[in-house]
Amino acid sequence: MSDFQLTRTLDEHAADSALRHDVLHGLTRTPKSLPPKWFYDARGSELFEEITRLPEYYPTRAEREILLERAQEIAAASGARTLVELGSGSSEKTRHLIEALPALDTYVPVDVSESALAGAAQTLLDAHPGLKVHALLADFTRPMVLPPAPGPRLVVFLGGTIGNLLPPERAGFLGSIRAMLSPGDALLMGTDLVKEESVLVAAYDDAQGVTAEFNKNVLTVVNRELAADFHPADFDHVALWNAEHEWIEMRLRARSDVVVKIRALDLVVPMEAGEDILTEVSAKFRQEGVRAELAAAGLELTQWWTDAAGRFALSLSVADGVLRTASTGGYATAGTPEEEVTAD
Ligand code: SAH
Ligand code: AVI
Repeated sequence: MSDFQLTRTLDEHAADSALRHDVLHGLTRTPKSLPPKWFYDARGSELFEEITRLPEYYPTRAEREILLERAQEIAAASGARTLVELGSGSSEKTRHLIEALPALDTYVPVDVSESALAGAAQTLLDAHPGLKVHALLADFTRPMVLPPAPGPRLVVFLGGTIGNLLPPERAGFLGSIRAMLSPGDALLMGTDLVKEESVLVAAYDDAQGVTAEFNKNVLTVVNRELAADFHPADFDHVALWNAEHEWIEMRLRARSDVVVKIRALDLVVPMEAGEDILTEVSAKFRQEGVRAELAAAGLELTQWWTDAAGRFALSLSVADGVLRTASTGGYATAGTPEEEVTAD
């Protein structure tokens, strides 16, 4: 029997109507915007993997450094039998956790990219023949039913993808993660940290133009799925630092006046030269902000690790009121103070 299962909670019809809604809503208001989840068709997922290897794009290397250093500690704190990963992509860094979790039974990668899920599952099953992989093709911002699998669960959200959500979306998303966690479960989350503007901008505007191609890929997706006639060459890739919100903005800027037809929506979108479509924000964080956002969602930050250069952080948190017990290394409901240990 195969140890791989894929559950589609996003059928093609649902994905198509979500894209129609987002394009209609995003391109008929001012300023124009498109949600970043539409970058990730098979080509977009490939381009993201290329980005992770660029000299300017430090987050993947920094997060891998932390995972390599802390995998045993994370494994000991969680004792997870089920690992749920939201926005799992290639699952490339996750293997360090999988290798460190001796009792792991099931890995549940969740992603909107079917090609990324299939590729990751193949690689993991080859490397870990006993592991069950139950992939979910799902939008992690929508209600989601996890497959039955043994606890405790470790939910991981790596790469800094939390930063691609706007603050109100983050609040709703963290609240839904809180609702997923039972006593004994934990959340491991990667957040990119605020740093010098030039380093941040270079990470989103690389010299080889891979990020520009990734950004423009959303136009190719809309052309293919909604019979639109965007010419990617009519747009410039723009990456800028928004100091007020402490996030990078990726935009596509019209190089001249353009008129785009989106036949599937019966929509004509005129754009003036210099007008932007906001395609992604990538928020950068500080420890206190992360702690506060987690707390507002009913989550308590218990561990905070950074890479040696302090560029990126991994945080471990548990449902509020559920503190780690000294005796078992597991978690118990708060109210048994003699068993509580202080989290650092
Ligand atoms: N976690 C990986 C990949 C990060 S890229 C890493 O750290 O390298 C972001 C991933 O999230 C992509 O694979 C993309 O397809 C997925 N993604 C983006 N928005 C999503 C959404 N709303 N629901 C599910 N997956 C999403
Ligand atoms: C997936 N996410 C965390 C990436 C980021 O850095 O915000 C997506 C990305 N956009 C441009 N480069 C990478």
